[in-house]
Amino acid sequence: MNDLLDRLRELLLDTGYTIDGVRERLGDVAATALSREETVPALRVTGQGDPLGTLIRLWWLGAPVEARGAPAGLPLEELAAAGLVTVEGGRVTSTVHLQPWETGGYLVSDRKVRPGDPALRPDHVVGAGGASANLAQLASHRPVGRALDLGTGCGVQVLHLNGRAEEITATDVNPRALELARLSWALSGITGVEARQGSMFDPVEGERFDLVVSNPPFVISPAGRFTYRESGLPADDFCRDLVRRAPGHLAPGGTCHLLANWLHVDGEDWRDRVGGWLAGTGCDGWAVQRDVQDPAEYVELWLRDAAEQGTPRYRELYDDWLGWFDSENVTGIGFGWITLHDSGSLDPVVRVEEYGLPVELPVGGYVDEVLGAITTAHRLTDAQLLGARLAVAEGVLEERSGPPGAEDPARIVLRQTGRLRRSTRVETVEAALAGVCDGDYPLAPLLDAIAELTGEDPDDLRAKAPAVLRPLIAEGFFHISTG
Ligand SMILES: C[S@@+](CC[C@H](N)C(=O)[O-])C[C@H]1O[C@@H](n2cnc3c(N)ncnc32)[C@H](O)[C@@H]1O
Repeated sequence: MNDLLDRLRELLLDTGYTIDGVRERLGDVAATALSREETVPALRVTGQGDPLGTLIRLWWLGAPVEARGAPAGLPLEELAAAGLVTVEGGRVTSTVHLQPWETGGYLVSDRKVRPGDPALRPDHVVGAGGASANLAQLASHRPVGRALDLGTGCGVQVLHLNGRAEEITATDVNPRALELARLSWALSGITGVEARQGSMFDPVEGERFDLVVSNPPFVISPAGRFTYRESGLPADDFCRDLVRRAPGHLAPGGTCHLLANWLHVDGEDWRDRVGGWLAGTGCDGWAVQRDVQDPAEYVELWLRDAAEQGTPRYRELYDDWLGWFDSENVTGIGFGWITLHDSGSLDPVVRVEEYGLPVELPVGGYVDEVLGAITTAHRLTDAQLLGARLAVAEGVLEERSGPPGAEDPARIVLRQTGRLRRSTRVETVEAALAGVCDGDYPLAPLLDAIAELTGEDPDDLRAKAPAVLRPLIAEGFFHISTG
């Protein structure tokens, strides 16, 4: 089998069946139409019978192709024997979705479902998509020893961990997922992944990892109909349990990144709900709500995802789901990132925030520093802060605005041009500090110099500064200079 997959990979690469090759061939119109689940434009631009067009039709669009038009060297009989295609009456039909991925590898999953297709099987193995990319972009780029991908599905996160982790373990409750993930890894030339079947952390009982990633079955619904998106546990309990159990599987200094959904329940602040999951884990934590949907939007999204719109059961499923949300007093559903870090501190810090703006990607390139800033800001005593050398972070701009001709600006904003691209309104003192903080001098004498310029009492300024600066350090506008 591995020999067949090696030859197939060569052929896919030679034919240009890569992310760039497919993107270029489809063009913007067909690609955008596909994102709306409309295949006609893509079928039109791939119908010339050339090798790349034929591979895109077969494996990206899931359309049958003529066997005699298949690219020279495509080992149809062997692929049929391996169960990857069927050949009947001179037509080849793919039994899987085989997609090039941004790492340069390939992913094998179940065929995409589109409106009008037969219903999904309960153990459907979903292909990589927006959420997969989201987690891959969130996960720390730090090289690690042992990594765990919980709920590996088609194996996409392993493609990202490969080369960064010395050992990779991938688990899934669905045996078909592991079967297809193994194909993905072999087609991507990745060896040595330890694949284990089982629920949640059961397959890695008693084991610890330097990095845990999971794009879990986070969808919140009244019934666990599809393994790829629902665990069968009530409400958002699966994500809560993941957060609570992950620390028990982190090695000292280890990090865990999860995507999650959480409920907004009438009368409860969602921050308390998610903060409650993180509290008591013993880890530092950062939870970010990236999006929130109302119950109807959410139900429509997931019914569409399973191509159930327009089916006879659509209204009934929609109504049952909404009715269940009503009975649970659900007002919305949050989507976001959760990061946990086992820093070993006896005073763990948890930050829960809403942040929906576009950020610099990949977050994994700087996520460790984001968490570091949050914990540093919390743990420094006032005296330590006044004695520390602060530097304004690279790429921070100051924006001043006010009525034309006014001597002083009415509003000063510090804006990050990179990383999380946060912006925050500041007062004159913080703005003055941002202008002079380059890591050369401790904070206290700088504050004294600013007090002299502004006429403020230096003792007052020293007393007020830590409370004002701590959030700016936590949010990455200033950092403690180590130079
Ligand atoms: C949303 S898919 C994620 C797939 C892939 N990791 C990605 O990033 O695209 C969730 C995966 O979790 C698996 N899963 C569902 N219930 C699980 C459980 N109780 N324990 C472990 N994995 C589970 C599903 O089979 C599915 O493959």
